[in-house]
Amino acid sequence: MSEPIPQLISVSNARQPNAIGHHVELRGWLRTRRDSKAGLSFLEMNDGTSLGNIQVIAPNELPNYESVVQRLTAGCSLRVYGTVQESRGQGQATEVVATQVELIGPADPETYPLQKKRHSFEKLREWAHLRPRSNTFGAVARVRNRICRSIHDFFQELGFLYVHTPIITSSDCEGAGELFRVTTLDPANIPLRSDGQVDYSQDFFDRPTFLTVSGQLEGEIFATALGKIYTFGPTFRAENSNTSRHLAEFWMIEPEMAFYELKDNMDLAEAFLKRIVQDVLDDCKEDMHFFNDRIDQTVLATLHNVAESTFHRISYTDAIKILEQSNQKFEYPISWGCDLQAEHERYLTEKEFNAPVVLFDYPKLIKPFYMRVNADNHTVRAMDVLVPRVGEIIGGSQREDRLDVLEARMQEQGLLPENYWWYVDLRRYGSVPHSGFGLGLERVVQFITGMPNIRDVIPFPRTPGNAEF
Ligand code: 4AD
Ligand code: MG
Repeated sequence: MSEPIPQLISVSNARQPNAIGHHVELRGWLRTRRDSKAGLSFLEMNDGTSLGNIQVIAPNELPNYESVVQRLTAGCSLRVYGTVQESRGQGQATEVVATQVELIGPADPETYPLQKKRHSFEKLREWAHLRPRSNTFGAVARVRNRICRSIHDFFQELGFLYVHTPIITSSDCEGAGELFRVTTLDPANIPLRSDGQVDYSQDFFDRPTFLTVSGQLEGEIFATALGKIYTFGPTFRAENSNTSRHLAEFWMIEPEMAFYELKDNMDLAEAFLKRIVQDVLDDCKEDMHFFNDRIDQTVLATLHNVAESTFHRISYTDAIKILEQSNQKFEYPISWGCDLQAEHERYLTEKEFNAPVVLFDYPKLIKPFYMRVNADNHTVRAMDVLVPRVGEIIGGSQREDRLDVLEARMQEQGLLPENYWWYVDLRRYGSVPHSGFGLGLERVVQFITGMPNIRDVIPFPRTPGNAEF
């Protein structure tokens, strides 16, 4: 009888008991090799499909045992043929007894950085081209992927339309002036007008343009035509903050819904976060146990708590009272009218409520022009969702749908309604109450994995002074 044709299988699938008895082909990278005195080598192989490795047993009868197998080093790539059997060792269901081991690409042990010892996350950032091969970054990549799938599933199942908003824009949605300029002008030879100002008529787009900070304004165009939409794309902020929760390039999910008022918006945000958390708990068990063991021992309990709890909803004004009465020494003192700092957000979610908190009705002076002004004329229909450890994870609002109020707000903030004529038009023709929010993808990955620094939950972080890779 001839040998059965080997079946190409992932490490993840080869680790399942139902693979036992199959003749398989595995492709991946070597994590470690251990030679036993009994004339066998144990190869720990990983292909990124799961946190756990498959253990390959290479017997010394293999023709290349001495010339190849015993010289395999961490990081090399391999192809293995063999049979999956029940493992006699601890901690794994299966192992593969090799009938053939091929070295595909060697990795020089003198220079390969990811040796067995543990490296700090700071060090691994310098090796962003190799860090996905480490346990932690493989797990982050898989959880991030699962979150993205969950995001699309959630909105698609509810009938939201996925809309692509532009990356290059001439507007500043958040009005914070944290824009990266996009230009084809030669910095060594900037054309000037007679008044000394830059002559943008000679620039590519015939006007100043930037990388977008948010797809919201264009999202509103589609929501007020198609009802419920969401965007999911990269956004950019030239914010010079070196913190563990800010990136200059991050991914944002922005749903926008016609006929939604603030409460509907909060309900959606809460259901959305719970769905993401539940999907990760259901489908990323191995990776999540790893995060809970190695990164943050509270992470699983926090996620179960989020999935089961009701988010607390309190007004900004009430939150300020709680903070003022807390007797807590904050680095930044707090009073009505101030923007909350991370420490205040964390106090509310971690100490006061021990659950996610939705704050609403913020002072209008600290929020952008597009938020709907309340009857008190001091606050706007804003909402932020705060979670333990990370603080603000979602920012959103009901939008100003009254033409005259919107124009007045723009003027107050030094914006020319003419420059946003298309945005203002949405209030001129068939205006409707509408709302939306933005979820920072990296903030949610950080929250779910417990990773302390946001730079370690995006493949290639962009922060002040860093754009390698
Ligand atoms: O609160 P933000 O600035 O809101 C907006 O951009 C609105 N236009 C969204 C909307 O209503 N459609 O940002 C939304 C979220 C924040 O809550 C945070 O999670 C994330 O985006 N975020 C950042 N994440 C990483 N690095 C940064 N520099 C971030 N700035 C905001
Ligand atoms: Mg915000």
